[in-house]
Amino acid sequence: METLRDIVIVIHLIGFAILFGSWVVEAVARRYQATRLMDLGVLVAGVAGLALAAPWGLDGGELNYVKIGIKLVVLIVIGGLIGASTGRAKKGRPLPSWVFWLIGGLTLFNAALAVIW
Ligand code: HEM
Repeated sequence: METLRDIVIVIHLIGFAILFGSWVVEAVARRYQATRLMDLGVLVAGVAGLALAAPWGLDGGELNYVKIGIKLVVLIVIGGLIGASTGRAKKGRPLPSWVFWLIGGLTLFNAALAVIW
């Protein structure tokens, strides 16, 4: 069970890598808009994160539910911003670039929260 939990953590990290990696690609290209790949990253990180939020395969450790709750709220906000950005871009009305920077900032905030708290 512990190995299985470790594998789900790796999947969670792959979701984070897809989300943040695709965000960096857009930032470097100076497009400042959300993409479908970011949707995929949110989905993978979110599903794996929810699986990790259940207390299984912990080897005696405990879960910090306040931290997990904050991460879930932040992920929902990130998903909403990405959805708003891709939805409006399709209609030819892109969101202001601060929304793009907020998506990257909140993603890093969640990663920092996971590791530092
Ligand atoms: C953009 C969103 C997210 C990012 C960038 C992120 C990042 C990370 C990282 C880097 C780790 C590894 C930390 C370590 O092992 O020291 C981790 C672990 C974990 N994450 Fe996330 N996460 C996100 C969303 C979520 C969500 C939505 C949930 C649950 C609802 C969640 C629950 C967990 C749990 C339970 C762990 C296992 C380690 C722990 O208890 O801290 N994560 N996350």
